[in-house]
Amino acid sequence: ALALASDDVARLIRWADDFPQPGVRFADLTPVFADAAAFADVTDALVAVGRDADLIAGIDARGFLLGAGVARAMRAGVLAVRKAGKLPPPVHSCSYSLEYGCATLEIPADGIDLTGRRVLVIDDVLATGGTLGATVELLEAAGAEVVSIAVVLELEALGGRGRLPDRPLTSLLKI
Ligand code: PRP
Ligand code: MG
Repeated sequence: ALALASDDVARLIRWADDFPQPGVRFADLTPVFADAAAFADVTDALVAVGRDADLIAGIDARGFLLGAGVARAMRAGVLAVRKAGKLPPPVHSCSYSLEYGCATLEIPADGIDLTGRRVLVIDDVLATGGTLGATVELLEAAGAEVVSIAVVLELEALGGRGRLPDRPLTSLLKI
């Protein structure tokens, strides 16, 4: 199902006011992943979103955990979309602005042929959309087809959905 089986996921989110900067309310999904039933619930729902994707792109850092769990369940490959400076060159990179500051994401520019790969992009949270937008740009510039985007939590007030390119976008929870 595209929906979560229980309300436990929402209850397990760890909210932090004024982190990492004053005025930002940060949703930390660490307790969701640490709970066996909640992690299974979330990954099962994301598998249903994935349809015929053959590669799951998980965004640094909590997207790695989700992406690997979903990819294994789908028998798809998994690609870690890294924050800048972690991968040896050559890399494709894309910079974006965050709710707080600016950042760059990278993927390898050789060793993986992304041409024609059907990719499901996964992250924990959609806020302003900068992170997911940069990831879609990065993957498509490398020749991949982003068939779907999925997050556990969408912070609707920040309007990220409207800033993303027009690809199918699923959020399991909206706040
Ligand atoms: C958080 C969250 C998303 C992103 C969403 O990551 O995990 O990746 O912000 O914000 P956006 O929609 O405004 O781009 P963050 O960059 O704080 O780093 P982390 O994943 O390493 O904790
Ligand atoms: Mg993140």
